[in-house]
Amino acid sequence: MANFYYCAECGNVFTSERKASVNCCGQEWKALEVSANEPNEKHQLDEVKENGKTIYKSHHVQDEGHYFPFMAFESECGCLKIKTFKPGDTVKICVPEGKHGKLYWFCNLHGLYVKEV
Ligand SMILES: [Fe+2]
Repeated sequence: MANFYYCAECGNVFTSERKASVNCCGQEWKALEVSANEPNEKHQLDEVKENGKTIYKSHHVQDEGHYFPFMAFESECGCLKIKTFKPGDTVKICVPEGKHGKLYWFCNLHGLYVKEV
């Protein structure tokens, strides 16, 4: 499983294959832990199939102070695709149909979620 790090100061997102500590903006950031809770309705993703792809979209707020900084897809073979977002961005990620792996998405206030797709 990929490890993800988020700098709450500047919004930078980092990944690593093994656990590490990451320094950004003069602070040390630990790997994000997957939330123990199932995502509530606001944190669930909409799923649309289109032209051989599955598009996972967020309908969560994307405001300064409360937003999704990133989504990622880690394929079964370990390839990692990551998309980062700023407040105001449309939050979505595409996965080719037939590809399986783990989909990650992160709310800066409510945590990291993962599901098998
Ligand atoms: Fe949230």
